[in-house]
Amino acid sequence: MFCMLAPMQRPLRIGLCGLGNVGSGVAELLVRDSATLAKRAGGPLVLTHVAVRDPQRLREVKLGEVHLGTDAAALAADPDIDILVEVMGGIEPARSLVRMALLRGAHVVTANKELVARHGAELRAAALQGKAGLHLEAAVAGGIPIVKVLSESLTGNRLKALMGIVNGTTNYILTRMTRSGLDFRAALAEAQQLGYAEADPTADVDGHDAASKLAILAGLAFDAEVDAAAVHREGIGGITQGDIAAAADLGHVIKLLAIARPHPTGLELRVGPTMVPADHPLAGVSDAFNAVFVEGDAVGDLMLYGRGAGRLPTASAVLADIVDAAQDIRRGVAGRLLAARRPMRVLPLADVISRYYFSIWVADQPGALGAITTVLGRHGVSVESMIQKGRRQEPIDLVFVTHTARESQVRSALTEIAGLPQVAKIAQVLRVEGPPD
Ligand code: HSE
Repeated sequence: MFCMLAPMQRPLRIGLCGLGNVGSGVAELLVRDSATLAKRAGGPLVLTHVAVRDPQRLREVKLGEVHLGTDAAALAADPDIDILVEVMGGIEPARSLVRMALLRGAHVVTANKELVARHGAELRAAALQGKAGLHLEAAVAGGIPIVKVLSESLTGNRLKALMGIVNGTTNYILTRMTRSGLDFRAALAEAQQLGYAEADPTADVDGHDAASKLAILAGLAFDAEVDAAAVHREGIGGITQGDIAAAADLGHVIKLLAIARPHPTGLELRVGPTMVPADHPLAGVSDAFNAVFVEGDAVGDLMLYGRGAGRLPTASAVLADIVDAAQDIRRGVAGRLLAARRPMRVLPLADVISRYYFSIWVADQPGALGAITTVLGRHGVSVESMIQKGRRQEPIDLVFVTHTARESQVRSALTEIAGLPQVAKIAQVLRVEGPPD
């Protein structure tokens, strides 16, 4: 009887930089599931070194024989470390470490959104030069495996659009405003109490976090060099209960959407509170959940839904990347092929075409509505529907939804409308997603 045994594979050594929330989750899963991971990775994976800022700090995670130190740069440079996992966050020293490891040919797994959004091009170049793998599933949308889907599973498509709810904090706030009638401040305070929002919530509520994620996703989806600073960004701080109620009256919900759409003249790239039809798959994404919806020319509509942050969801993405890196090393693959990226012009906001919602407060007197619609008509903006909210009150709220119009036309119409004697205030302007008309 003759049987073949698989050759004994040498253990691959992992160096972990950072043992915070995500890092401790990664260490926990590596130890807990070592046997399963070894099968999936084609051989043992051993966490040998962990670098932290403060080794004295008490940590719940049991590291056993792992070497705990402070010198992350030494791990990046150590030729015995096969896979460097960077979960420390921030730009420096993470940027230098990742670069150094890639240049020496080590595979790097990173969960660092800012780093990838701001220095992705530099790191991809280092990976190419070092013939190494740069794995970044955990850097965007936590546990949702969208990086793999965009870079591997959907390569047979031309994508027509990518739309995401990629910030859990703002989705939680908007959900509470919608379902429980809280105003923005109260919902934010609740999100802070629950640990979703930071003490300084700016990065989330003003859309910076979502813009960084959109830059990474759009780069992958459209093989484009995308600068996060070029993403048009609006936050949710100005959303009122009036807007939430108007959205419901119109059969919509308000979501902070991150949208990327290629056009012949450039890439539309924007983050902002947006009205979404209640029957759209993104409308049902509630609380702190995230989802990314893509429209492919071959696959059609597709949505991935899940936890966009958190210890184990993000560790899940890191572990998948570690297994991919290990499989590449076992097969002698230097790194995954990185699609060549081209610079793409970002479409100026003025050229965006959308449907719009306005809330305009006016004195309730004859001719007010006519004056507004006359100005809209003169600027080529066609009204799809209008609701008058409040009667015999001063002022009343006129809520409009337009057919698709160019942002520049809408803005110049609104400037003129703001100057009409009957108009007290343009209280809100939001873009409305939906089927093209
Ligand atoms: N603060 C982010 C969110 C998670 O609320 O989704 C980290 O990107």
